[in-house]
Amino acid sequence: MSHAPTAKAEIGVTGLAVMGSNLARNLARNGFVTAVHNRSYSKTKTLIDEHGTEGTFLPSASPEEFVASLAVPRKILIMVEAGGPTDAVIDELAALMEPGDIIIDGGNAKFEDTRRRQAALHQAGIHFVGCGISGGEEGALNGPSIMPGGSAESYDSMGPILEKISAHVDGAPCCAHIGTDGAGHFVKMVHNGIEYADMQLIAEAYDLLRRGAGLTPAEIGEIFADWNTGDLDSFLVEITAEVLGHVDAETGQPFVDIVLDAAGMKGTGTWTVQTALDLGTPVSSIAEAVFARGLSSSSVQRAAAAGTLPGPTSPWSAKDEDAFVEDVRVALYASKIVAYAQGLDEITVGAAQYGWSIDLGAVARIWRGGCIIRAKFLNRITEAYAADTTIPASLLLAPYFTDAITAAQDSWRGVVAGAAQSGIPTPGFAAALSYYDGLRSERLPAALIQAQRDFFGAHTYRRVDKEGAFHTLWSGDHSETRTA
Ligand code: 6PG
Repeated sequence: MSHAPTAKAEIGVTGLAVMGSNLARNLARNGFVTAVHNRSYSKTKTLIDEHGTEGTFLPSASPEEFVASLAVPRKILIMVEAGGPTDAVIDELAALMEPGDIIIDGGNAKFEDTRRRQAALHQAGIHFVGCGISGGEEGALNGPSIMPGGSAESYDSMGPILEKISAHVDGAPCCAHIGTDGAGHFVKMVHNGIEYADMQLIAEAYDLLRRGAGLTPAEIGEIFADWNTGDLDSFLVEITAEVLGHVDAETGQPFVDIVLDAAGMKGTGTWTVQTALDLGTPVSSIAEAVFARGLSSSSVQRAAAAGTLPGPTSPWSAKDEDAFVEDVRVALYASKIVAYAQGLDEITVGAAQYGWSIDLGAVARIWRGGCIIRAKFLNRITEAYAADTTIPASLLLAPYFTDAITAAQDSWRGVVAGAAQSGIPTPGFAAALSYYDGLRSERLPAALIQAQRDFFGAHTYRRVDKEGAFHTLWSGDHSETRTA
């Protein structure tokens, strides 16, 4: 009697910390024979001991055994620390793999690193896929939002697997091929930048309700829960409501009051802003969110300034509490729309720079579920791009968003002005509003900046009434010469 050969794995996961382990379980639970490997075998053993019955796992103790356990073309998902450790694992595995095989990096890698790795592995005929994965531990296990880059050929092969394990909204997977080489990690980076902005805006809304209306964290938690039933329906608003309702068991204090007010970061928001600076695309809402974390962590300066630097003498006196709460809600929504518009602009500019063809409607669609910024209003973004794939200038010009901002603007301005007058910091709200006003201005004072640049550096300027570059002889007779 002949025995069937041992089934080879359809996909492998190496790096079995929580994210890698949960993704491996998600794959196995979805019926994929999943090879698993970790540098130290103990993590592999723990996974098999604790969850081995959830599906078919093929554990390996060595990279050689791991690679040999995979069906061709081999598909390996790397879930290790970004940077050097990722390079080391890629080098080790690539030496054991063959042309046509696929290495997927599911970590939060820099898209430039992904481009470099993709180019290097392309020489060996190996497909390298930088793949953004969002949703934290829970998403990894039950369905994340997945943003794979890399070649279309590699997506044909591993896309169906990733789609199956991703979150689904209205029956559609939250996974789509984003574009070649680093496109997936670029889009994940921007996702994280928007995540920073969204969190900052929510935090500002909380602060306004607390300091402006004197509401307690628990009361504000209820307001957020209510907001979560409307336009603001989102994962981040939902968890905010829960956090604000939580009471510290040890002290009986609202939990939010016993947490140190210095926000940390692993840095993906910073990358979003650095990249935007390189690309010259304004993502002020995201930048302010990053800077706000920086200010929160400037403990020495803050300690020196608190109680020393003066603020306004009169606090906010919100006369009509319900109206104030509604104004803050509307201001939050408008600011959030701007943050998403800026992030999508960065993707558009990045795509043009790096030669990617990125479908922004698809990006919004796969962000509807699984990821940290999942939100009901992403449906509106998907609809906007479905109605007009060109939306050439800005999401803000799509009719739904123009209407939403138009309806919001009195509240938005009132909240930002009131916050400034009462000394409550709202860097996110204010940056979003300033961006909006800058965008819609027919003339900006940039004309004066051009004149100044020409004055001190002969940098030239263009005129509104004729083509060419011009310079005025500022240190001479103020006559104008055409330079190009
Ligand atoms: C996700 C998250 C995830 C993470 C980041 C951001 O999409 O699942 O964005 O990638 O939470 O590490 O965290 P920092 O705030 O530490 O940068």
